[in-house]
Amino acid sequence: MRNQLQRGLDFAASQCRRLLEQYPGYYPMYTVGGRWRQEPELWTHWCEGFYPGIFWLLHQHTGEAHWRAAAEQYSKKLEPRQHDRQVHDLGFLFFSTYLRWYHRTNDPALRDVLITAGRTLALRRQPGGYLASFIGPESLFIDIMMNVGLIFWAANATGDDALRQVALEHCRTTEKYLLRPHGGCAHEGIFDVPSGRFLRESTHQGYSPSSTWSRGLAWALYGFTAAHRLSGEREFLETARRCAEYYLRRTPPGLVPYWDYDAPLDDPPLWDSSAAAITASGLFDLAEAPLDGAEQERYRQAALTILQSLCSDKFLASSVPGWEGILLHGVYHKHKNLGVDESVAWGDHFFVEALVKALNQNV
Ligand code: GLY
Repeated sequence: MRNQLQRGLDFAASQCRRLLEQYPGYYPMYTVGGRWRQEPELWTHWCEGFYPGIFWLLHQHTGEAHWRAAAEQYSKKLEPRQHDRQVHDLGFLFFSTYLRWYHRTNDPALRDVLITAGRTLALRRQPGGYLASFIGPESLFIDIMMNVGLIFWAANATGDDALRQVALEHCRTTEKYLLRPHGGCAHEGIFDVPSGRFLRESTHQGYSPSSTWSRGLAWALYGFTAAHRLSGEREFLETARRCAEYYLRRTPPGLVPYWDYDAPLDDPPLWDSSAAAITASGLFDLAEAPLDGAEQERYRQAALTILQSLCSDKFLASSVPGWEGILLHGVYHKHKNLGVDESVAWGDHFFVEALVKALNQNV
């Protein structure tokens, strides 16, 4: 298995070399027919950390200096985003870039950027006890579980308990209104502002308000695992386990899900390889949490099963000559027909993150 995973990582590195040569300075989001999309009118602002994040991971894994040079150059351009109040995505942007940079250097200037980004994100707090999505003050997204960790991180770095309370409250509100007892979750919650009363479940990218959108589940599994690690609060670990059990119960053999667990099956089926990649990385983290050994091993084996599937010809883009991304069969936004059955930057990022975690173990 190790050789198969190493081949997957080698292919990811070759796609990154090609990206740097072919599109210098470009931050990928999703491909169109296998080519990275360039049109500025469809540019949105939550994905710029993912490919620089891959460069950091490749540097960390190989020690090669050229990856670090690219990682620093691409990360540095994101620095002004520490003040960005337009998006709820500062964790995506800064965990993948500045945190990895900081871990390699301990440079206090990098730590300050992370703290400022965490404080900026905390400004999204609403009276309902959650961080609002970019849609508006009434909207809570499951995706924000991937970002709230930056507030815990900033609280831990500074000892600022008010900051920690904002993050705790967000996680608890998400748990209460978006997570369902069986372990699935809603994509979005709509609240009355300013009373903070919860009104209803909703979705943008999922099949329906009451369905479980596969990527939303993956964000929840990974995000609650991280929230537990950063806060020490056991309840978040229990939520992450519920998400993991749902994933393992409802995902077809090979453990790569279709785009939504409750959508009628498309013909041909529409997978979301990015949900699988995020989940694989999250399951490796869950396997490190304080659980009994058998459960840890079950999550680790599930993560390895996902990676084996993603490294097969079905999902690894090495099987399609000329394809520019790393993983085939990701989905960005089915209803808007954006990045459907394509490579997506976050799928590629979390795939490489999971591969590096696996290869650092005795597989
Ligand atoms: N955070 C946006 C998405 O998952 O598509």
